[in-house]
Amino acid sequence: MKRLGWVVLAIAVVTATAVFRPRPSPAGAADSLVADGRRLFLLGCSSCHGDDGAGRRTSAGEIRGPSLLHSGEAGAYYELSTGRMPLADTTEQPHRKRPAYDDADQAALVAFVASLGDGPPLPHLETNRAALAPGGALFRANCAPCHTATGAGAALSYGRAAPPLNESTAAQVGAAVRTGPGQMPVFGPGVLTDEQLAGIARYVQYLRHPDDRGGLPIGRTGPVPEGAVAWFFGIGAFLAALSWIGTRSPVRRPGERGDEVPHG
Ligand code: HEC
Ligand code: HEC
Repeated sequence: MKRLGWVVLAIAVVTATAVFRPRPSPAGAADSLVADGRRLFLLGCSSCHGDDGAGRRTSAGEIRGPSLLHSGEAGAYYELSTGRMPLADTTEQPHRKRPAYDDADQAALVAFVASLGDGPPLPHLETNRAALAPGGALFRANCAPCHTATGAGAALSYGRAAPPLNESTAAQVGAAVRTGPGQMPVFGPGVLTDEQLAGIARYVQYLRHPDDRGGLPIGRTGPVPEGAVAWFFGIGAFLAALSWIGTRSPVRRPGERGDEVPHG
């Protein structure tokens, strides 16, 4: 009988600890993500951006890495997911390359940078439901002047070239638009709503795979308008390419992108 008493007590204790065990709250999970991000940041980023992300200068007073206090989720996601950060050295120009961090480490670093200040959040874009044709119109008005109508990218008359968009995911489009990296302007939610941005992001995906039949019907209006739209864009791209070739300066400054000379 005494034995049974102990067994009952043991079962009660085990049950009680299982039921009343404090569960990790979502806030706790977010804190540990930020803590992981801080650890990665101190290893891979702080040499240029400072331990607290406020930026650092060389002993000569030149900026090693800018302050990230207002980069936000969108800025950090843009730089990390496109592989632009970390730079190998301060003189390197950031360009798209294979990301140095896997998705989990990127998420941690993004959470850490976002925790530093009040920078733009990463927009959540419902591209599946977005309308393609208005997205195309917005793209031509706001983005094509630099990235060209086909998204092939082009040299700018000042600063760095506007890169091609053929590898950009919808999330990267959203991050770039809200961040305004380099010479690209920031388009805040007051200029382009999340819904309009989703349309643009979907259109960029369409430009990546314009021959994908079936996946992206234009407003479900059938083959005739689709054909007309294809003609329209095809001719637009052709004209844009012509004018680009026409205005392109044959002189390239050394060190410009695409100018890499094979060594050895
Ligand atoms: C060798 C130095 C260096 C390292 C290492 C480095 N960065 Fe940078 N970072 C820079 C420089 C320089 C810029 C400005 C680039 C430009 O001209 O657009 C920059 C820009 C950024 C920006 C955009 C800032 C803004 O709002 O304009 C973010 C975000 C960023 N870095 C995050 C990171 C993270 C996260 C890491 C670590 C994984 C990292 N960087 C590692 C030098 C560095
Ligand atoms: C004034 C020229 C300009 C305009 C207008 C512009 N961009 Fe950009 N864009 C740039 C430049 C320059 C970069 C490269 C920034 C850097 O150094 O990281 C860029 C980068 C990007 C990238 C990152 C590409 C990659 O590597 O994956 C995306 C996506 C993008 N832009 C989308 C857009 C969209 C969408 C619009 C319109 C809403 C737009 N841009 C308007 C100049 C421009």
